[in-house]
Amino acid sequence: MRDAPVLMFDSGVGGLTVLREARVLMPGRRFVYVADDKAFPYGNWEEPALKSHILDLFATLLETYRPAVSVIACNTASTLVIDALRERFPGHPFVGTVPAIKPAAERTASGLVSVLATPGTVKRQYTRDLISKWASKCHVRLVGSVALAGLAETYMRDGFVDEAAVRAEIEPCFIEQGERRTDIVVLACTHYPFLANRMRKTAPWPVDWLDPAEAIARRAVSLLPELAEGEGVSGVDQAVFTSGKINYVTRRMMQGFGLAA
Ligand code: DGL
Repeated sequence: MRDAPVLMFDSGVGGLTVLREARVLMPGRRFVYVADDKAFPYGNWEEPALKSHILDLFATLLETYRPAVSVIACNTASTLVIDALRERFPGHPFVGTVPAIKPAAERTASGLVSVLATPGTVKRQYTRDLISKWASKCHVRLVGSVALAGLAETYMRDGFVDEAAVRAEIEPCFIEQGERRTDIVVLACTHYPFLANRMRKTAPWPVDWLDPAEAIARRAVSLLPELAEGEGVSGVDQAVFTSGKINYVTRRMMQGFGLAA
């Protein structure tokens, strides 16, 4: 158990936003980062197909890496499959990532909150339930973006992103109702924090961009406090790409995050 890694899972590079925070809280742990790039983007998949794809993949991942815990650092996957994963692999702890609707509802002053996510996350019953449970007094706008996760992937690899495209994707988040206007945008896709500076730059007015990465990492530690123990990591953190194809640029990027690929 002491040497068992934390498995961090996403469809692409988005989970790295969570890995950054997790490293700070668990400096003595080894991490295995799994990017299911063969199946990217998850946001456009039909629900039944994506569900069985992820369940099958986890059977292999748990067998191969024997992690202490798995962090599903992906809203699109978590809102669909977190309960099914717990059911299928009882005894293995899973930490999910779901839209930060509760903290947004607690924090908003104007009562106008937007949730920016993939088309998959936006249409999930799980997301709708979070709104009725925690944000019934707010006006919550769900904004599904087909392109943003891909733009974040491009930005991380090429260091360049089309700002006009980012602006167009975030635009529907901004609502004015009389004196009131949107004051919080929930970043409900782990890819999006990588574009936060571009979003701030192209936003029609300043808002609070809610990134749940730190809260997710804290949740993992609260579930298994021993994850935060120890100092020296034995072994190297590793990145795994399900496509099996990794080019020079991606390898360098992963090395930049301290991951051998
Ligand atoms: N990073 C994923 C999320 O948090 C989604 C990206 C994708 O569409 O695959 O929702």
